[in-house]
Amino acid sequence: MSRQLSRTDNLIQQFDTILRTLVPHAAGASRANPAVGTQDAEMTDAERRHAAGLMRINHTGEVCAQALYQGQGATAKLHETRDQMEQAAAEEIDHLAWCDERLCELDGRTSYLNPAFYAASFGMGALAGKLGDNISLGFVAATEEQVGRHLDDHMHKLPYGDRRSRAVLEQMRTDEAHHERWALEAGGSRFPAPFKLGMRVMSQVMTKSVYTL
Ligand SMILES: [Fe+2]
Ligand SMILES: [Fe+2]
Repeated sequence: MSRQLSRTDNLIQQFDTILRTLVPHAAGASRANPAVGTQDAEMTDAERRHAAGLMRINHTGEVCAQALYQGQGATAKLHETRDQMEQAAAEEIDHLAWCDERLCELDGRTSYLNPAFYAASFGMGALAGKLGDNISLGFVAATEEQVGRHLDDHMHKLPYGDRRSRAVLEQMRTDEAHHERWALEAGGSRFPAPFKLGMRVMSQVMTKSVYTL
């Protein structure tokens, strides 16, 4: 009976996370938005649209991160590292909420493709979890490395006047580097270069489509 209840609780929790991830403005951050107290410089309408496109990509990246952690949480054993993985997932919710808030300020919207990217990332996370903790943690590290590179690129691409988006991305960059370090220190395998190249190609497909869609 108790096993059945805990399985039901689990399903409800998963469903709640899916809703909070995919429904715009449903995610709430546990930390203050890093842009509080930062003022933008002047931006043209075209610059604001460009910034919204970039922040939409970052938001979808966080949808993928959330799905990845959820998928792994569903299948991985992670006896010693589950708490840290849950902590990282909570920080990804902060990132999700901050990107969403910034998109609103820029009169932008989240991507129509988020449900598809959530499903694909959940599947990849669940598969990695099944393959063992070292692979699972290695996948986290490789993903965080990829996200970090991508955030560096976006900090260069943001319009000069967009200081509030930059403040959000800087905090996210710090958090992602921490997630990567933790996953490797916890025993994550270092993935080979061809695998990382494949991840980079997939991320380019995501960024190109989400910028407009
Ligand atoms: Fe993140
Ligand atoms: Fe992360």
